[in-house]
Parts: sequence; structure tokens; C-alpha cells
Amino acid sequence: MDLLVKNARIVTGPESFESNIGVEGGVITSVSRTLEPSGAEIYDASGKIVIPGGIDAHTHMELKVTGTRSADDFYTGTVAAACGGISTIVDFVDAQPAETMLGALAEYRRRADSKVAIDYGLHMMFKGQSLPEMDRIPEVVRKGVPSFKVYTAYKDRGLMLEDADIARVMETVTGAGGLIAVHAESERIIKRLIEKNLAAGNIEARYHALSRPPEAEAEAIARVTKLAKAASARIYIVHLSSRAGKEEVENARRRGTNVFAETCPHYLVLTDEVYERDDARNFVMSPPVKKADDRAALWEGLASGGVIETVGSDHCPFTGAEKDWGEEDFTKIPNGVPGTEAIIPLLYSEGVRKGRISMFDLVRVTSAAPAMRFGLSPSKGSISVGADADFVVIDPLERVRMTADAMHSKIDYSIYDHITTEGYPVLTVSRGEVVMQDGEFVGRRGRGRFVPRRAAS
Ligand code: URP
Ligand code: ZN
Repeated sequence: MDLLVKNARIVTGPESFESNIGVEGGVITSVSRTLEPSGAEIYDASGKIVIPGGIDAHTHMELKVTGTRSADDFYTGTVAAACGGISTIVDFVDAQPAETMLGALAEYRRRADSKVAIDYGLHMMFKGQSLPEMDRIPEVVRKGVPSFKVYTAYKDRGLMLEDADIARVMETVTGAGGLIAVHAESERIIKRLIEKNLAAGNIEARYHALSRPPEAEAEAIARVTKLAKAASARIYIVHLSSRAGKEEVENARRRGTNVFAETCPHYLVLTDEVYERDDARNFVMSPPVKKADDRAALWEGLASGGVIETVGSDHCPFTGAEKDWGEEDFTKIPNGVPGTEAIIPLLYSEGVRKGRISMFDLVRVTSAAPAMRFGLSPSKGSISVGADADFVVIDPLERVRMTADAMHSKIDYSIYDHITTEGYPVLTVSRGEVVMQDGEFVGRRGRGRFVPRRAAS
């Protein structure tokens, strides 16, 4: 045995029990109350909670955007993830203009393999330029990338697909056993409001949010869920941010659409009051954070039986200097915020400790559901014999003020520095190796592996 975790209060799937965990060769070899150490490194988890390693199925490491890349590369981003209790990320391949989907996938693998500190999978972004490559979808799926993200907005950045094309992609991906992810915002609502704001001289960061009301999300979700029902597609709505959007997901489910939703930590703990701050530009992401009522709706959606099945971070931070590009025009602010390190601390402290969700809900939305939905189970997503030894120890007594210094992302600010958590991850184990202990990254660059994901049978 390589590692023995003693006296653990384990929460996995719908179960909670006290036990010891034995690890050998990177997998869990025993979960039993009576385990002998036999030379293993021992970690005493008395008084702490042990849960499966978090799966953050929405990150954008070193994402190329106009004039720069997102600040965290696959090394610093996965270090930050590990320090927040995440043991697997799923990033998005973004093919550049001259690249094919398969070429871009190979390039992402080449860049990520040498850097990742934890395991990773990939989704494929399916943009306008990918339309001539529709017949390559089954091959991308066979390479372990069975999910494709489409955009309903951002035509000028080459991201948006027309509805008829979205329907065709849905049919083809479904035929290959894949899943469709949708960035759901209404191009027509956003475009008009941006035009009006800029014409009126409304250039500050808060107009980014005012150009994207909840209706922009709800309109797009209503439309794509109908397209999905007609194509018998399985879809998931990424970064759900509003009550109106959630209601559209619920309506679609009632009509028998195979749809589920993801939300992100920023929508759960912030409100649009952040756009009144001097550093409002740091909070510019799409869709933007909304009102306290929307935030309450998202917590309700996460609790057992709700339509929000996963929490992903949409981790895509930019430095303060890059955020300043939009000082005289909010449309020039690079969109995106940090988050992968914040998922588990915030769901535990703001969710479980404040009675908004149960510990079972936290485990479901951070590990069991993403593992199942994204084809990573049974090796990921549970603490059970035969599974990868990916787990996190949370100390309910650990209080951490989430300042830039306490976080590990490569940016010079924190959007959560007003929050001091009650409880925090103190140990992250990835395939049997301790990669974070007491807030320090103790893993190695490049030790993570690409995890090919299964398509639906
Ligand atoms: O504002 C966001 N969400 N930025 C990240 C990149 C993307 O398109 O999701
Ligand atoms: Zn994203």
C-alpha cells in the first residue's frame, strides 16, 4: 500500500460513512474500517471530510483571444485547480483559423501534456469555421472528445452558428454518441443593446452587464432547447446565470428535452453590485452576474432534484493590465474571470455551511454528476475500490480569506477577496499522489494525464 487515509468521514455518491482508504498504484484498493498500514504513508483525517476529487468540466487555460491569451497556462491553471480540491479539468479545444479540429486537438494535447499537474479531458469548440468539417465529428469523438460547444452569439468573433447549423451539428454529434454544450446568449438582444449603449456614450464596464439582461440568456435557451428536442440531442447549457434562464431549462425538461445545466461559482456568490465598484472591469465575463434573486434561483437549482447538475468554473482570467484595455470602451475588456480554485471552497462555505445545499449536493455537482455526464466514470467521480485515487480532504475549521495572495492563479487580483471561508480543502490527492497539502502545491508539472472520455452507448 502506498497511502493510507485513516479515520475519514467519507461522503461519496449518496452515502456518508466513516472508514479508512487504502491506495496503491494510483487507485483505491480498499475502503474499510480495518486496514493495516503496511509501510504506507499515513494521513490522519480525524475531524475532516473526505470527498471525491472535484471535476471542473469548464476551463479555458491559455485560451487565445484578441491580442493575448488567458493568464493561466495548463501548468499554473491546474496548480490553482489542485489547490482548490479539483483533480480533473475538462478544457475546450479552440481551433485557430488555419487549423482543423483534429489538428487543433493534437496541438492542445501537445501543449497540455507537458504542463498539467492533474488529469484533464477536452471538449471541442465547434465554430463557424468548423462547418466544412462536420464529417470529422465521429473521429473527434473516437479520440476521447465526445462533447462539442456551440455558441448562439458573438458572430463578429466567428463563434456564432445560425440555428439551422446548430441543428445540423446537434444531429451529427448525437449520431456519434456525443453531447452538445451551448453558450446560450441572444446575439440579437446583445448586439442591439451594445450599439445603443456605445451610441449614448455609455462606455464603462457596467454597460457590459447592462447590455446582457437575463432575457438574452432565456431567449437563447428557449430556442436551443427546442432545436435539441427536434434533433433528439443531449445538451447542456454552460454557465447558467439567471432565474429566467433556469426556468427555460425547467420548461424544456418538462417537455421531455434531454437538457441539463451548469452554473459557475461567480453566479452563486456575487451580484451585479460588483459593476458599481472601481474595479468593475475585473468582473466582466459573459454572461455577467445578475441580481440577488437570480443567485437564489441558482442555489435552488443546485439542491437535490434541481436542473443544475454541475458546477464548472469557466476559469478564464486576464491580468488587471489586460482588463484595462476596456477603460474607454467596455467591449474591449477581455471576457472571463478566475474560478477553478474557488468551486469547492465556495460551495462548501457559502453553500453547505449556510444551509443552501447539502454535503451530498456538493459531492454530486462537483464529482458524481460531471463524471457521469462527461463520460469519466467509473474511474473518476467516486471513492470506491478500483476508482482512481482522486480525493480531497476538507477541514471544516480552516478559514481562508480568498485574497490574490491566497489564490494560485497567475493574476494580480481576486474577485473573492471580500470572502473568508468557513472550511477549506487541506489535501488534494490525484491518482494516489498528494498534489496539495495545507494550501501549498506539492505536485509536479506534467504529471497529469489526458483522460479519453466515453461517448454515450
Ligand atoms: O466570459 C467568458 N465566459 N469568457 C470565457 C470564454 C468563453 O467563451 O466562455
Ligand atoms: Zn467558457
